[in-house]
Amino acid sequence: MSWKRTVLVTGGAGFIGSHVVRLMVNKYPDYRIVNLDKLTYAGNLKNLTDVESAANYVFVKADVRDTEALKKVFEDYEVTDVIHLAAESHVDRSIEGPMEFVLTNVVGTVNLLQQAKESWGEGEHVFHHVSTDEVYGSLGEEGLFEETTSYDPRSPYSASKASSDHFVRAYYHTYGLPIKISNCSNNYGSHHFPEKLIPLMINNIVNKKPLPVYGKGENIRDWLWVNDHASAIDTIFHNGRVGEAYNVGGLNEWTNIDLVRYLCRLLDKKLGRAEGESEELVTFVTDRAGHDMRYAIDATKIEQELKWKPSVTFEEGLESTVDWYLENTEWIDEVTSGEYRAYYEEMYQNR
Ligand code: NAD
Ligand code: DAU
Repeated sequence: MSWKRTVLVTGGAGFIGSHVVRLMVNKYPDYRIVNLDKLTYAGNLKNLTDVESAANYVFVKADVRDTEALKKVFEDYEVTDVIHLAAESHVDRSIEGPMEFVLTNVVGTVNLLQQAKESWGEGEHVFHHVSTDEVYGSLGEEGLFEETTSYDPRSPYSASKASSDHFVRAYYHTYGLPIKISNCSNNYGSHHFPEKLIPLMINNIVNKKPLPVYGKGENIRDWLWVNDHASAIDTIFHNGRVGEAYNVGGLNEWTNIDLVRYLCRLLDKKLGRAEGESEELVTFVTDRAGHDMRYAIDATKIEQELKWKPSVTFEEGLESTVDWYLENTEWIDEVTSGEYRAYYEEMYQNR
């Protein structure tokens, strides 16, 4: 079969990557989707069991830092496009050990850019770099992140992502590589590794464990359903302008404490517990170092230019997410055994 495009999705076994792979495999049967993933603690092929035998899907276990492995994948599969999601993604881990973030997020991205530059000739190509709103820093009570907001990263994670964005732009300006960037707010949904706020709280509520809220719980995040992020990536990849960045978000700001209390109420109902039972598990713990106060996205550009908008309300998306965790106990049991226990102990034991 000759493929219309061969799209290399990096980090396709992770949380967002698996939703992007699923969307692309199902929606574009004439594209070959090559999922390249190192399978770190965050990568899980069980996230993709429903597409693993599709004719247009290939999995390659490799590290984006491995130049020879990338060269081979580009040659073997004649890669025409890239959607780059592979990254170390957790802010708390970046505070404990920044170097892994530099190596994967910065060096890995440059390695991939260089491979695309060396492999691609004059034809039609897209290098879509998936990034975060955290590159813009922290907002006060007012205002929203726009595409023109100055970069002001404050954690090792966001500094590494900001650096990778700069390299992606540098390859566009210097070598003419056809890049696109998306900067998205906090995602939530199925297959989310329970080191992040929402899946961690769902898992702890179910298991009646303390709910560790950092500081006073007043920090604000702008939450977007992961499937809506995947559809935004699809839209930008196909219709976004080369050389441009697009902010993606849900205009859906919540303080952490309000969100945790909402989850408690939702789960009390679903688990048949007394009203207010789970809220008693809320425990305020030592704040995250350098904790950004507020993120909020102005998504006007993607909404007006590309006609994208979120498909569900937060309440709908959150309920379907909670239902997924309640129905997929095997998945959650597996990812919370082994390394996760040591991680959890180290991160929360003396917090
Ligand atoms: P994740 O941690 O769930 O998944 C990351 C994936 O990358 C895993 O499958 C992992 O195995 C793979 N990976 C890590 N290092 C690798 C390496 N060296 N080589 C190859 N593969 C490697 O992350 P996520 O939450 O799905 O985030 C995906 C991307 O989206 C990241 O670039 C992140 O910065 C960005 N992003 C995330 C959010 C969010 O809310 N989670 C929001 C905006 C942007
Ligand atoms: O904004 C996009 C970013 O969102 C992505 O780029 C990152 O990859 C992703 O991890 C996420 O970063 P955050 O740091 O915002 O997400 P996290 O789920 O770790 O934390 C959300 C908020 O909840 C934050 O204010 C810290 C707080 N928190 C988190 C955890 C894990 C707690 O209060 N307790 C916790 O146990």
